[in-house]
Amino acid sequence: MTALVSDAFVFFGATGDLAFKKIFPALQSLIRRGRMHVPIIGVAIDNLSLDQFKTRARNSLEQHAQFDSATYETMCQQLKYVSGDYREPETYQKIRTALGTAQRPLNYLAITPSLFGTVAEGLAKSGCVHGARVIVEKPFGRDLESARDLNRILHEYFPEESIFRIDHYLGKEPVQNLIYYRFANPLIDAAWNSRNIESVQITMAENFGVAGRGKFYEEAGAIRDVVQNHMLQVIACLAMECPVSQDHEARRDARGKLLEAVRTLKPADIVRGQFQGYRNEPGVNPASQVETFAAVRFMIDNARWDGVPFFVRAGKCLPVTTTEVMVRFKRRPHPMLDDSESLRANYYRFRLSPQVVIALGTKVKKVGELMKGEAIELVATHQAVDEMDPYDRLLGDAAFGDAALFARQDSVESSWRIVEPILGNMTPLHEYEPNTWGPPEATSTIIPDGGWHDPDPQPVSSSSAT
Ligand code: BG6
Repeated sequence: MTALVSDAFVFFGATGDLAFKKIFPALQSLIRRGRMHVPIIGVAIDNLSLDQFKTRARNSLEQHAQFDSATYETMCQQLKYVSGDYREPETYQKIRTALGTAQRPLNYLAITPSLFGTVAEGLAKSGCVHGARVIVEKPFGRDLESARDLNRILHEYFPEESIFRIDHYLGKEPVQNLIYYRFANPLIDAAWNSRNIESVQITMAENFGVAGRGKFYEEAGAIRDVVQNHMLQVIACLAMECPVSQDHEARRDARGKLLEAVRTLKPADIVRGQFQGYRNEPGVNPASQVETFAAVRFMIDNARWDGVPFFVRAGKCLPVTTTEVMVRFKRRPHPMLDDSESLRANYYRFRLSPQVVIALGTKVKKVGELMKGEAIELVATHQAVDEMDPYDRLLGDAAFGDAALFARQDSVESSWRIVEPILGNMTPLHEYEPNTWGPPEATSTIIPDGGWHDPDPQPVSSSSAT
């Protein structure tokens, strides 16, 4: 059955940071591509006029997108603004009026999760949830129990198929390409298992600090902020079995099954770090024990990945901003070759951002009498200039009822189950200097065979054949 398209877009938290940085730019792009021509209603407590709200939209587009005046004019025709307190029934009456004849709004809750229940109840009481959809942002809870509570609250008003949980990593083009590349190339798919793969590393490095989000970060830390969600979803995309059909639930099933098989972490699987200077950031406790860096070793208990460690390293104030995956193949020492150590040159490197690169590390014989080789990279690359932003893709998908790229509750619960034993201060915290690859303990305790791969600021090395 084809899902009905949402006939209005209502976003709560319309004057907030997420709306400013992500939602208006995504709406501009959706309107430009002809994917959004329904009323767009912003809701927030601030007492703005519609004109002031339109100016805010314009500022957002000028600062966070390529401003397109024609599309902005179209957007202005669609924009409405409702000012009100989320706890007051009259706010929802105003929303109902603004909806006009629309019956199936897509509601985006770009607000703190503690208000989800209040807003969902307000919408229900004013007759705004029948046929409606709801988008919520990570974090989906703070641990397994709170994630379940949050889910219970949403389910009081919305059935599962109407709930869209955004993890924007799933909406990234290069993350989707990880899946496509593997299953579209039988040669790679055939090698994708513990017989051939020694280890997988994912580095999510950012060369900036908490960028004014100290208060938020104190509640989160690197594990809750990016490991429990983005990093585990990337592992799921890399390691899952092939979905059984094109149906969107089939993709969620495949990711869900993989996450179910990820072993629950123990303290010995993690090293936590905090960059020097973090405690002086506004909103941060001067004695904070919150980690801004984590190096983690995951294991997957299934036949395909038996014994293959998946290493994740994520942190702020590292030397470069990039997310890169390194899949190392097992060494096969050969009596004819005397340089077996360097046979480690066999790998796949997937750079997911800011540039997109797929590279195969391989060895070729050096010209000469000896059977000696050299490492080269074969690179498939493109500069992601016109790439669709994840929010653009995800808002469009939600409006059309396609949930493939959204986190399902079973995956969310598995992810909390996996990280729960190492949340908080269960493990020591080590300081590191900004602009380094985290605390030295990360490289001495959680060590991939062959060491960590530190992504290069340059996405393509000089020994590459493109
Ligand atoms: C967000 C985190 O979910 O992802 C941020 O809250 C992080 O701390 C961001 O910086 C990274 O996203 P991207 O798309 O820039 O890699």
